[in-house]
Amino acid sequence: MKNNNDWNPDLYLKYRNERTQASIDLVNRISIDFIPEKIIDIGCGPGNSSEILRRRWQSARIVGLDSSASMIEKAKSDYPDSEWIIANALTYETKEKFDVVFSNATIQWIPNHKELLKKFYGMLSDRGIIAVQLPLFRDMPLGKAIENVSKLKKWKSKTDGVSNLFTIYDYFFYYDVLSKLFNSIDLWVTNYIHILESQFSILEFIRSSGLKPYLERLDSESEKLEFEEEVLGLIKKDYPLQENGKVLVPFKRLFFIAYK
Ligand SMILES: C[S@@+](CC[C@H](N)C(=O)[O-])C[C@H]1O[C@@H](n2cnc3c(N)ncnc32)[C@H](O)[C@@H]1O
Repeated sequence: MKNNNDWNPDLYLKYRNERTQASIDLVNRISIDFIPEKIIDIGCGPGNSSEILRRRWQSARIVGLDSSASMIEKAKSDYPDSEWIIANALTYETKEKFDVVFSNATIQWIPNHKELLKKFYGMLSDRGIIAVQLPLFRDMPLGKAIENVSKLKKWKSKTDGVSNLFTIYDYFFYYDVLSKLFNSIDLWVTNYIHILESQFSILEFIRSSGLKPYLERLDSESEKLEFEEEVLGLIKKDYPLQENGKVLVPFKRLFFIAYK
């Protein structure tokens, strides 16, 4: 049965370049002196991040895993030669061992990061590494505005608890978890400045990701539009129009790579 709240791969990929740059940077920064045989891309979405792994390691067996049927359907149709699995990363069980456990822009959707990172560690071969990126959404005016609107009296009864769906810690937390498991850790933050066509594009960009679970709680299209208008009202001053009408949207992302 079709799930109306499932991800929308086409809307997600409308901003493919903005969304995929972090995968390019993360893959490029992995420093290993062997060619990985098996790689898993956790939360592969429509396969855009797996494709970056494929470009670097053409001979590797790359498995894309995602809990969304529509994302996996899109990945399968765009990249029929790769392997795709529909599964929840937190409960997924496998005896296979991977040289790279990769996850771009996904773990913020999954709770229990201590448990999750231990699970990633358990999926690694002896020489394996993990490479992860997540957006620091709560640090951004956009993330704060969505949360503030959701707390307004008129929305609270519907959107209550949605922000708890996101699990995002700072690098102090990840360092402590990773340093108990791995020998060497690389951690960094990048603030990407996305150049978007208009202030409305900011909403379009986020509608298929960070805004999605809030909109799903609302009953009608007009409520969704109203919610978005209120978010837009709060963020206009943070993302002013440039002289040519475009807007610059800093987007902060935390990365880590951990080596056994
Ligand atoms: C923002 S997309 C990232 C897609 C892609 N990796 C990229 O770099 O653009 C997040 C993906 O995580 C998936 N996801 C969320 N929770 C998950 C879970 N518990 N297990 C597996 N995938 C999950 C979603 O279905 C979605 O496709």
